[in-house]
Amino acid sequence: CHARLMFVGEGPGADEDATGRPFVGEAGQLLDKMIAAMQFRREEVYIANVVKCRPPGNRVPADDEAAECLGYLRKQIELVRPEVIVLLGATALRFLLQKDGIRRSRGVWHEYRGIPVMPTYHPAYLLRQATAKREVWNDLKMVMARLGKMPA
Ligand code: URA
Repeated sequence: CHARLMFVGEGPGADEDATGRPFVGEAGQLLDKMIAAMQFRREEVYIANVVKCRPPGNRVPADDEAAECLGYLRKQIELVRPEVIVLLGATALRFLLQKDGIRRSRGVWHEYRGIPVMPTYHPAYLLRQATAKREVWNDLKMVMARLGKMPA
């Protein structure tokens, strides 16, 4: 299950809960476009979430809930051995890197156990805030460069 590129989101929404697959709803369709723009196929990237169950009312996972699932996520990263991890949104940043402030952290390389990590905005945020797409595309281009891909 090795993949060069791994994305980490927050947790399943209603559509994901119903299908058991990550990012299949509206945000997932935008993520599909991001993946295609990065010149990858969805089947060749690995997509994970911080929490594996949908929090009631779709709220942000609480610290103890994320803590329950964090071992699972760490194991996924260990098995996938990605060359780059893209963190989608504040929740992934908070729980994988213990860092708050997606605005300040996006567009800046971080590191998780020796793996380069790029935080960026969550696609669900982009659905509400289309002007942030430019920043995300800049972040993704940095990731592409790291993986030897040239933006078209
Ligand atoms: N949002 C997430 O963070 N993860 C999903 O799987 C779907 C939507």
